[in-house]
Amino acid sequence: MNIVLRSAYQRSVAAYWNNEKAPVNLKLGEVDGLYHHHYGIGDYDPAVLEVPADVRDQAIIVEMHRLETAQADVLLDHFSYLTAGDRLLDAGSGRGGTSFMAHKLFGCQVDGVSISESQVEFANGQARERGVADLVRFHFRNMLDTGFETGSMSGIWTNETTMYVDLYELFGEFARLLAHGGRYVCITGCYNDVTGGRSRAVSQIDQHYICNIHPRSEYFKALADNDFVPISVVDLTPATIPYWELRARSSVASGIEDAFLTAYREGSFHYLLSAADRI
Ligand SMILES: C[S@@+](CC[C@H](N)C(=O)[O-])C[C@H]1O[C@@H](n2cnc3c(N)ncnc32)[C@H](O)[C@@H]1O
Repeated sequence: MNIVLRSAYQRSVAAYWNNEKAPVNLKLGEVDGLYHHHYGIGDYDPAVLEVPADVRDQAIIVEMHRLETAQADVLLDHFSYLTAGDRLLDAGSGRGGTSFMAHKLFGCQVDGVSISESQVEFANGQARERGVADLVRFHFRNMLDTGFETGSMSGIWTNETTMYVDLYELFGEFARLLAHGGRYVCITGCYNDVTGGRSRAVSQIDQHYICNIHPRSEYFKALADNDFVPISVVDLTPATIPYWELRARSSVASGIEDAFLTAYREGSFHYLLSAADRI
């Protein structure tokens, strides 16, 4: 049996997610039962800021949730050619929101892995409630060493999880898991090599989430090193700024909003989608 938590660092990341009960995640998930631990994209409806004070907060929460679901839709669009016979891996699956969306869209088997046991338990409970537990399964496993069979996956995605791991190690494991021609899709925050090293705002984000944001260049070096050929690269930065502006005005703001807005506006940080095929 593989050891899931291999370092003091991984144990601290696991502890963070095991104890995480942030309203910004839970209240948004309660809107329709899809729990995301990622950010949103797209313009918000400014009318949510004008509704009467007693319902304004809930209106903002519903709108933020819509933008987070829109983000997952954009990621999953890159797998639109898949069919029910395919198998997908959600690497760093959180409470499972994107996995349930993927299963609904493609009808296929989805396996999610997380180093947080409480997230895995929560997401498997959701799978049972939704009646999809035979096809959507969550596992307490490390995405660097998943234990799944070589060549068993048609697609893999990481939705805001790569800043916790070494990219060369991660993409090596993904190259092993994907069948020839299989696709990997990543949404992540990364810092801008053009403006230099980690800015103060990027360092604040790292510290807040106990993560290690990589430079943009490292994604493409590590992909190329592991036989992945990019097919799409989309800078989602302009599309995510409205989400952060709305979040900063919500009751569920967590205190990290200014750092994200500063980093995006000064150009030291991008919100990047990359899709690459395994050759
Ligand atoms: C920001 S959350 C994203 C969750 C999910 N992808 C989503 O979009 O809702 C980061 C996730 O990465 C997971 N994670 C971090 N390091 C990991 C590792 N080495 N192996 C597996 N999961 C990991 C955490 O447990 C957590 O579920």
